[in-house]
Amino acid sequence: MGMNTNKVRNADEEDVMRLTAEEQGWLAGEAGPALRRAMEIVTALGTIYGARRLIPVESVQISGVSYRNIGDAGLDFLCRWADEGARVRVPTTLNPTAMDMVSWQTQGLDPDFAAKQRQVVAAFARMGVGKGVPLPTCTPYLIGNRPLPGAHIAWAESSAVAFANSVLGARTNREGGPGAIAAALTGRTGAYGLHLEEHRRATLRVKVDAVLDTISDYSALGALIGRTAQKAVPLFVNLPLEADDPLYEEKLKALGAAMAATGAVALYHVASLTPEATSSDLLTADCACWCIDDLTEGYAMLSDDIERIDLVWIGCPHASLVELAQLTERVAGRRLQVPMWITCARPIRDLAVDSGLVGKIEAAGGQVFADACMAIAPVRNLGFQAVATPSAKGAYYLRNLANVAARFGTLDQCLAAAETGHWPSMGRDA
Ligand code: F3S
Repeated sequence: MGMNTNKVRNADEEDVMRLTAEEQGWLAGEAGPALRRAMEIVTALGTIYGARRLIPVESVQISGVSYRNIGDAGLDFLCRWADEGARVRVPTTLNPTAMDMVSWQTQGLDPDFAAKQRQVVAAFARMGVGKGVPLPTCTPYLIGNRPLPGAHIAWAESSAVAFANSVLGARTNREGGPGAIAAALTGRTGAYGLHLEEHRRATLRVKVDAVLDTISDYSALGALIGRTAQKAVPLFVNLPLEADDPLYEEKLKALGAAMAATGAVALYHVASLTPEATSSDLLTADCACWCIDDLTEGYAMLSDDIERIDLVWIGCPHASLVELAQLTERVAGRRLQVPMWITCARPIRDLAVDSGLVGKIEAAGGQVFADACMAIAPVRNLGFQAVATPSAKGAYYLRNLANVAARFGTLDQCLAAAETGHWPSMGRDA
């Protein structure tokens, strides 16, 4: 990279973004129209948010992959960019699609829809996403895109952003769809927001006195906090979680995903646990203080008053191998009467097939799909109207994006619903 710098604009000397000579050349179109367009997006975002420079990013996670969401306009936009020669410069992974890219017929997808969805993924493959073989998932950190503490990255998937910032100690803002693509093509993002130390301190202290046990309990806690915290940076104290908990990452994955769904939390800290929660001056002076002693509202706020369930969806965010193993134990001996779909990354599914987990889940009546997210799938067209899930984020988007009724509850409640087709009236499982 050249050391000479040029300014994007000359308005106020204090307020300009300085670009290297190489970046300035890209912006001028010297490396072609695809990179010019990407630089225009990256510098426009940087200017809006007050960045003084661009910084290299080590990896990118792209969202906006569902054909149901982006439609023909989005598909054309991606194809044009790929035709212009857009190619990623850094390791880049892709968010879930609306279907299992292999078993979409089993899911009941329309062939025309499936063809369009394949074209979307093919456009990203042409850009070099996933080294030409994208493996769509919202948990890229489980399949090799796992940044180290302090790494600057540009990720778009909100649950993955929360995990990367909080659990891994990497640094990313919550990128939008085109912004993430532009970051992948340039290998750059603006130096603003959570890339800067001063924005990573906690602005909210949350003391947890509620009983938390299951992964869904962490999801319910996140739903409660996100709803009011919005963009705050919470510091959790008294969270009953140890680093050697076998579900440590799964619980924090659920917590962050829920806060990112009901709010816009992109970073949180857990006292004595997460990488940046060691500093004594982590809290800002004017931080608010909350105490949570009950999770009932966290479950209730994302549940419709429905009794009949016609689909159970597990794997939001995409399930880990540990979660699939836990689920396998829970379904042993059960006979599920309504579809129970579990979603995960394809490499995780492959491992679960090899270790016999998928076979056991299928023996009980469940199905494990890769690549897909039911919140962005055409769920109603598949014949489902009432979905149960142990994920707060799943319930939130099922109701707000997929337009179906949802029940958010514990894994035991969801399994009971899969066995009977009815939502059980029982308390939380142990
Ligand atoms: Fe992932 Fe979809 Fe949930 S993208 S976090 S499975 S809503």
